[in-house]
Amino acid sequence: MYYADDLIEEVRSRNDIVDIIGSYVNLKKKGNSYSACCPFHHEKTPSFHVSREKQMYHCFGCGVGGNVYTFLMEHENYSFPEAVEALAERAGVKLPEQSMTPEAKKQADVRTKIKDMNKLAAAYFHYLLKSEHGTNAMKYLKNRGLTDETINKFGLGFSDVYSDDLYKYLRKKGYKDEELKDSGLVKFDEKQGGTDRFWNRVMYPIIDTNNRVIGFGGRVMGDGKPKYINTQDTPVFDKSRNLYGLNLAKKSKRHGIIFCEGYMDVISMHQAGFDNAVASLGTALTVGQVNLVKRFTDHVYLAYDSDEAGTKAALRALEIMREFEMSARVISLKPYKDPDELIQTEGTDSFEKRIDEALSGTMFEIRILANNYDQEDPQERTQFQKEAAKHLCMITDPLERKNYTDSVAKEYDIDPENLKEAVTRYGIANAGRTDTSVFRERSERRSPEDEKEKKFLKAERLLITWLINENSLFEVLKGKITADDFFEPVYHSIATELFDQYSKDGKVTPAAIISHYQSREEHEKVSGIMQQNFEMEISQGEKSKVITDLVKRVKLRSIQHQIENAKGDLTKTGKLIQERIETNRLQINL
Ligand code: GTP
Ligand code: MN
Repeated sequence: MYYADDLIEEVRSRNDIVDIIGSYVNLKKKGNSYSACCPFHHEKTPSFHVSREKQMYHCFGCGVGGNVYTFLMEHENYSFPEAVEALAERAGVKLPEQSMTPEAKKQADVRTKIKDMNKLAAAYFHYLLKSEHGTNAMKYLKNRGLTDETINKFGLGFSDVYSDDLYKYLRKKGYKDEELKDSGLVKFDEKQGGTDRFWNRVMYPIIDTNNRVIGFGGRVMGDGKPKYINTQDTPVFDKSRNLYGLNLAKKSKRHGIIFCEGYMDVISMHQAGFDNAVASLGTALTVGQVNLVKRFTDHVYLAYDSDEAGTKAALRALEIMREFEMSARVISLKPYKDPDELIQTEGTDSFEKRIDEALSGTMFEIRILANNYDQEDPQERTQFQKEAAKHLCMITDPLERKNYTDSVAKEYDIDPENLKEAVTRYGIANAGRTDTSVFRERSERRSPEDEKEKKFLKAERLLITWLINENSLFEVLKGKITADDFFEPVYHSIATELFDQYSKDGKVTPAAIISHYQSREEHEKVSGIMQQNFEMEISQGEKSKVITDLVKRVKLRSIQHQIENAKGDLTKTGKLIQERIETNRLQINL
């Protein structure tokens, strides 16, 4: 914790969530809550809600939610302490420096220092590129067709041929070895001391959506190996949650976002006017990256390499896009290897044409499928048609399914009625299946153990939701269940907070609990749990039964764990068994 809890809570309570969010989005009052189109994903009808009473927000469309701190962390990309600082300033609350624990202060300083070092390094590499030292590097980039304007726009640079050039430079700027090590820019070993991670390479600074340099890719000039070296993960660089070029692409006026594989592809596409191109940072596409992009658009184009690896990556990316309900199209680059090569050889118009002709995700998947079968061989052709039908029956929207069925029939010269009939047949056979891709390895079946586990987790979560929504339950459940009966760590910690708050104040403040977590993931998870609201009409009798079931389920599992941990201690075990008997008889009457 960087600041004392009560201070964090004071700052939070002095900043009304409706005011804060209202200054970013246009909130409309609706009953007890306020709503708007969600600022974190694209939508036409508002599913983003802010509750003044709860001091929380939630989007039913994309699932984001939290308190004022979460909002600023999501919207401004602030860290938790940065969000506290911004709101403290706004409310005129003075934050004492010393209220940070030394450890926390150190962590905050590390992040700031790394960003500063990265910025200095980027400027230095850029300067070197333009100096005499960078003659070869500049030649290399010019040879690849880059203009000065592009080089400046992307802040490209050059790391010098000496293996400790940047090390010396940053030392001179006053940074210590320990700090340099955190940045990932310098490596240390006993014999050689500090050496640069990057030397004699063309440098591509990686910039986040807040325009901060978070890391680098360094390319060898020519055919050396490894071709690229990237910054390893550091406290400010997380490969799975950032995208190369998104700082520029997010401002683009073009339709959607184009994903490609390489840094050079992004640069080349931007130079050709396709300034909505981004690339992963040397890894396959991640869920975190799709989540990030979803804030800016729902339409994605894939311009992955035309080789087998690129095709595989595209198929996998399509699956992720589908999970996120994004529309995805696949741009064919054949016979060229990648977007850069296509643009260099055929130019802008040709690329524009290929964007227009991009296949929808489904048609692309069917085409890949078709390539696996010899269409001249009747048996193989039948097999292909069956597989295609299986794939089509997974499309949930009936109209979309019909349209795709028609298109596939036309494209592959299949009798439309036959295909339609096959799709319906497989649809019935597979009713209830949820995985949407025939390309996925056979989906792992959940074991009965997993199912049981899920039920326990759900019981814990639901009980927390009830406690939040009906504070009177704390009295009813006194002596029957405690926070320690909650097993899942995150539920356990939320329950602990809730029981504490209730015993201190006689009520609970869910928005305050969120502030106890520091990372965005935790904020999302915790606020997700607390968002749920039971707005159903339910009789006292039914409610008593529901609560009794939930308490029993959580308690019995807790007792089971304690018995296992008692490891044969007979006194303890005896007591627990007695407790189990009582719990089984438990009947709560509201
Ligand atoms: P050029 O060859 O300069 O056109 O590079 P490119 O950006 O087109 O790269 P390529 O298509 O070969 O690779 C795609 C991406 O994979 C690169 O941008 C890097 O992020 C990553 N990558 C490629 N080679 C390596 C490597 O040797 N090491 C690491 N860590 N990443 C690599
Ligand atoms: Mn390339």
